[in-house]
Amino acid sequence: MKNVGFLVSGEGSNLQAVIDSINNKSVNNANIVTVISSRENAYALERAKINNIDSMVIARSNINLEDYTKQLLEYLKIMRVELIVMAGFTQIVGEELVSEYANRIINIHPSILPFFGGKGMYGIKVHEAVIKSKARITGATTHFVTDIIDRGPIILQKEIHINENDTPLSLQQRVKEEAEWLILPKTIDLYCNEKLEVKDNYVLKK
Ligand code: GRF
Repeated sequence: MKNVGFLVSGEGSNLQAVIDSINNKSVNNANIVTVISSRENAYALERAKINNIDSMVIARSNINLEDYTKQLLEYLKIMRVELIVMAGFTQIVGEELVSEYANRIINIHPSILPFFGGKGMYGIKVHEAVIKSKARITGATTHFVTDIIDRGPIILQKEIHINENDTPLSLQQRVKEEAEWLILPKTIDLYCNEKLEVKDNYVLKK
């Protein structure tokens, strides 16, 4: 059993997808021990509460990145977190956390990386850029976090077709429903059952 800690900032629908998958046993050997939010009013906190999961707000207001990272790291250690899952977490974290948890931080991104990723590409902005580009396919990616934003080793991807009448908002919702909520639980299941190995920036599935 691996202790999983979620980092969130918003709605927490991906967190919910993982909770549901643990409950229906499609994800095994994962125990969500805490949900840490960068925002006080994130609905993800409510989801944690409803499901009797510990939660904590660690906001970045008035502190520098180094101190913020230290606070996160300290709490993650207190909770004995072994795997960090960033699911809609809008904060950058410092190098110290990334190296301490090397190959033990998973992020979900709402596009087919490396396209539509990197600095400034988060939330609805991703879907706005996708629609503007007139791409016909988008989707979601899970990857390990390194110090280069959205460029860590890719674990799983799922594509979806873009419809002519899709808007950034409709696409955001469809990418969640048809891609994110499937690949994030699957990724966590693979990790917690020791089926992933990182080699030279690639992920091998055992
Ligand atoms: C998702 O689209 C995720 O890919 C991105 O932020 C969004 C979070 O959604 N990183 P939710 O809070 O899980 O509903």
